[in-house]
Amino acid sequence: MELSYDMACVSPTHSQAGAFPEDLEDAILELKRERNAVLLAHYYQDSEVQDLADFVGDSLALAQAATRVEREVIAFCGVHFMAETAKILNPERVVVIPDPEAGCSLADGCPPDEFRAFVDRHPGAAVLSYINCSAEVKAMSDLICTSSNAVKMARQFEGRDLIFAPDRHLARWVAQQIGRDDLIVWPGACVVHEQFSAQRLAQLRLKHPDAEVLAHPECDEAVLAQADFIASTTGIIQRAVESQASTLIIATEDGVFHQIQQKAPRKRLIQAPGVDESCACNRCPFMRLNTLEKLYLCLRDLTPEVRVPEAVRVRALAPIQRMLELSA
Ligand code: 13P
Ligand code: SF4
Repeated sequence: MELSYDMACVSPTHSQAGAFPEDLEDAILELKRERNAVLLAHYYQDSEVQDLADFVGDSLALAQAATRVEREVIAFCGVHFMAETAKILNPERVVVIPDPEAGCSLADGCPPDEFRAFVDRHPGAAVLSYINCSAEVKAMSDLICTSSNAVKMARQFEGRDLIFAPDRHLARWVAQQIGRDDLIVWPGACVVHEQFSAQRLAQLRLKHPDAEVLAHPECDEAVLAQADFIASTTGIIQRAVESQASTLIIATEDGVFHQIQQKAPRKRLIQAPGVDESCACNRCPFMRLNTLEKLYLCLRDLTPEVRVPEAVRVRALAPIQRMLELSA
């Protein structure tokens, strides 16, 4: 199968932004009605974007929400692979993303041509890909997983050689959960989760001995070793709300704080420390490219539109649908 990554799949962004209405939130809601659009957002979006969304969720919940859309337009506030997944599931609808540069270090670090060669070096191995990858990589996969169902999806391949791509930290954690040490792993990583410092986390835990540590499985092994609870963003939010602990140290992008604060306003939330104290590296630089202004423009102009070549879409759809069926 010859697949190439075509940046032309994303139409160009707005050249003439013009002035913005004074009440941007109201204007966005008005445009949403006019365009018959639904607004889907990931937990890593700015809180004002989350507050405008019809649905906020983790990667799995957003893919599931994309199967229930009845409106003509999906405005996807998340990163490109998430919007692309929505498009794969909704070929007849217009899918727009506020900033087409909202990529992901995992997806961008797994170029389809190199992944094709990697797969070819392991004939007979099944391919399980984390949803944080391009449509082209999905099209080469037998099954897709997200952080909330990766363990269950990996168990589908007992007794078979298995390639896991593109996150080596998630792969290692999944392998531990299912008791395998033979996964064939594409060595990618998330720039946000990889920067949490295990050493500084250990110091922080000494200062807050009663705090519970919640971590996303994209974190490094030494960080996960200190976690009381490891889960997807939805799992982290639920645990933070339900936990008996009044102080929580959280090792994921701090966009999740918004939902926790709304549901459990008395909890003290502390961001797990990064290696570099001077940088806000716990913010996903890609997710945070989406702003209210760009959301307004993308609803006004219905661009940048996310498109997926039909041959790729059809091949990518099968492993996504399989995941959705297994996760129902
Ligand atoms: P979730 O599966 O928790 O949404 O994670 C997505 C992601 O990109 C984490 O960095
Ligand atoms: Fe990708 Fe990491 Fe950003 Fe998630 S937080 S979208 S994995 S770069």
